Amino acid sequence: MKPSDSWKHLVPDHLRKLGPYTPGKPIKQAEKESGVACIKMASNENPFGPSPQALEAMHHAALESNLYPDNDATELRVQLARRNGLEPDQVLVTDGSTVLLDLIARTLLAPSLNAVTSARSFIVYLIATRAAGGELIEVPMRGDSYDLDAIADAVNEDTRVVYLANPNNPTGTLFDAAATRRFLDRVPQSVFVVIDEAYYDFATHFAKQRNVDYSHSLDYVREGRPVIVLRTFSKAHGLAGLRVGYGFGPPEILAYLERLRTAFSVSAVAEAAAIAALDDTEHIRKTLENNDQGVQYLAEKLKGLGYQPVPTWANFIYFDVGGDAAALAKRIQAEGVIVRSLAPWGISTAIRVTVGTPEQNQRFIAALAKATDRATVQ
Ligand SMILES: Cc1ncc(COP(=O)(O)O)c(C=O)c1O
Repeated sequence: MKPSDSWKHLVPDHLRKLGPYTPGKPIKQAEKESGVACIKMASNENPFGPSPQALEAMHHAALESNLYPDNDATELRVQLARRNGLEPDQVLVTDGSTVLLDLIARTLLAPSLNAVTSARSFIVYLIATRAAGGELIEVPMRGDSYDLDAIADAVNEDTRVVYLANPNNPTGTLFDAAATRRFLDRVPQSVFVVIDEAYYDFATHFAKQRNVDYSHSLDYVREGRPVIVLRTFSKAHGLAGLRVGYGFGPPEILAYLERLRTAFSVSAVAEAAAIAALDDTEHIRKTLENNDQGVQYLAEKLKGLGYQPVPTWANFIYFDVGGDAAALAKRIQAEGVIVRSLAPWGISTAIRVTVGTPEQNQRFIAALAKATDRATVQ
């Protein structure tokens, strides 16, 4: 027996089929590969860094790093409940919202059961579902958007979970509150609908501007429906590296998720930072305004280069490059900008770029123009 064949028979069948998650490339790795200084516009992070108030809170909390954290992140949970008009037992805090996706799948799915989502949506839905032994049904999109009617049609007696990313990652599209309610009214009570609002702050900002009624997701939790709403501190609050996310949902189900959660998984430093970040309205305002201007700039320049970027409701832009996206992302990286080829997500001709600072956005457009030999007017 060859060494590489020796152990895999010990891994259950459904786990052997799992592909790895391909994250945005870390800056150091990209610089080593490309031999140039790089900026990262690949993981929808906040280009201004963490909230300054959060940084100060981290510093204080770090002084007590010899102590285990509060296992329930009680202070943060209470704050989140109070600010959103819910009870603390309707909130669960975890080390990132991807962890919640995993806990939901492990709690509600099993071999012979399935989850339903859209094609071209967040790759973690597939990984979490398969890791739990379930099957993921991916429903074709309408254009670049979720087709909620087709998703409701795809639900069958073995479906226990529906994942809805709103806005969607990677296409950046959104469905409104009326469409969500229509969808929930069609789906049986035996199906938990996960409304993943990782980009909630950006979408809320755009929705006000564009006069769209974006989300009433917490109303469904208040009504006691089988709905779990996910949010995160990784995006607008700039705390991706600390890992804090949370979910709102029915206490009974959250209590089951809680049992699977690793003890002490949310550090005291992360909890303190998240609490402080909630109050840092100035950092959020600056982030949302920059995003707004960055989206306008990038969309205009991309169009000028002959692309058709999908109108976004988040802090990233999706565009089809009409060819090998992985090869193009590599050439853009050689110019010092890391973007995300969506080839590992099964979308071989699209790129997703995160909105950066004005300087970063200019660098990306220049790098793209150079990588494709297209002229650009700055
Ligand atoms: C749709 C969606 N959900 C969840 C997450 C995960 O966020 P977290 O950093 O809280 O795990 C992301 C991050 O990219 C995302 O795009």
